[in-house]
Amino acid sequence: MYIHHTPTKVFIDYDIKNIGELIKSYGFKKVLFVYGGGSIKKIGLYDGIVDSLKSHNISYIEASGVEPNPKVSFVREVLAKNYEFDMILAVGGGSVIDTAKSISLSHKTGIDPWKFSKQEVEPTSSVPVGVVLTLAAAGSEMSNSCVITNEETNEKEGFGSEFNRPLFAIMNPEYTYSVSKYQTACGVVDIMMHTLERYISDEKSMLADEFAIAVLKTVVKNGWVAYNNPTDYEARKQVMLASSFSHNDLTNIGRNWCPRAHLIEHIISGFYDNVTHGAGLAVVWPAYCKYIYKDSKVAPLLARLAYELFDVEKLNDLVSDAYKGIELMEEFFKSMNMPTRLEELGISKADVEKFSLALTKDKTLTITDVVDIDYEAAKEIFMLMFE
Ligand code: NZQ
Ligand code: ZN
Repeated sequence: MYIHHTPTKVFIDYDIKNIGELIKSYGFKKVLFVYGGGSIKKIGLYDGIVDSLKSHNISYIEASGVEPNPKVSFVREVLAKNYEFDMILAVGGGSVIDTAKSISLSHKTGIDPWKFSKQEVEPTSSVPVGVVLTLAAAGSEMSNSCVITNEETNEKEGFGSEFNRPLFAIMNPEYTYSVSKYQTACGVVDIMMHTLERYISDEKSMLADEFAIAVLKTVVKNGWVAYNNPTDYEARKQVMLASSFSHNDLTNIGRNWCPRAHLIEHIISGFYDNVTHGAGLAVVWPAYCKYIYKDSKVAPLLARLAYELFDVEKLNDLVSDAYKGIELMEEFFKSMNMPTRLEELGISKADVEKFSLALTKDKTLTITDVVDIDYEAAKEIFMLMFE
């Protein structure tokens, strides 16, 4: 069975001075205001939000300093303060939003957040989370997913729950003008991955395929423009929309999906906290595709990407065209200075064994998908990240 549920109310081209009124309209009075390392202050967004909250008599408590690849220790520290609030406002990118989601599940129940991350406990309630998005990448602003790292165990765990879907997501492309070229490129790769993981599937859904191709075309074209011209409003807007709509399940409508590139990448950034999620994915995807491209279900799908995204003429057989598409995808990543090999992330072959064991939970897990990944397959895929 497939269920589609996208309850998040999305505001685009939003004027931040209205946020107090919006929060008031929901009846909320006390806000936990979560943000990261201070980029929102540099762009004036912090002041805009605070002014609006104050002018609508909404009280707020700040929980700032969320780090990229957000940590469960931060979530626990906030929970330990026993703050009172009736909603959480997450202002930032995926790390801030996921931190807010994690706090939101544990706040009323008192259950340790890592228990949700490890899927030992199913969420049954959450405090509403509203988002002001400042980085087009993770898609957490509409997703049912929450990704948190436990720095004591080097585990980075994502889990899905309908209680993770934000109540609203506010977007204004101008908030993303200050995003660095590096983070812009990482975001483009991440958006592509959310789409590609849903697209490479053996369950048929023509509508999902067509949505996926539309999102991919949009993000490749506009991502490139935004990378080269950070203040191009329309390009930033299209990338922002693609971020949200790549990961709200529109691009897998009618079928289920498996986030296998993400599962692989989370192993890498779980062990190496300095690896940015999108940069890790730019290394994972070509290697993963080189492992699967000859499969008769996969080759036509990858070949279609070559034709539609990179204007490859249909000259060869499907398998050759699929491979050409992988090479062109790598070229696209490289053109935005993304790494495509593990050495570029400072990681050596000595880690392949450790990564493969972690991915397959000490050889007890096979990731079942269009092409299954067991321990031996995992080792091959990680080795391909060096070739
Ligand atoms: O800390 P601040 O000051 O906010 O700076 C951030 C951070 O240093 C900066 N940034 C954000 N907006 C900015 C800005 N800098 C300048 N101007 C702006 N407007 O960018 C840096 C990275 O931020 P982060 O939130 O970590 O990036 P992203 O949105 O890519 O999120 C990555 C995290 O999301 C997880 C990833 O695994 C990773 O932990 N994911 C979450 C998903 C979900 N919940 O659905 C799905 C994704 O696939 C992903 O796994
Ligand atoms: Zn991602």
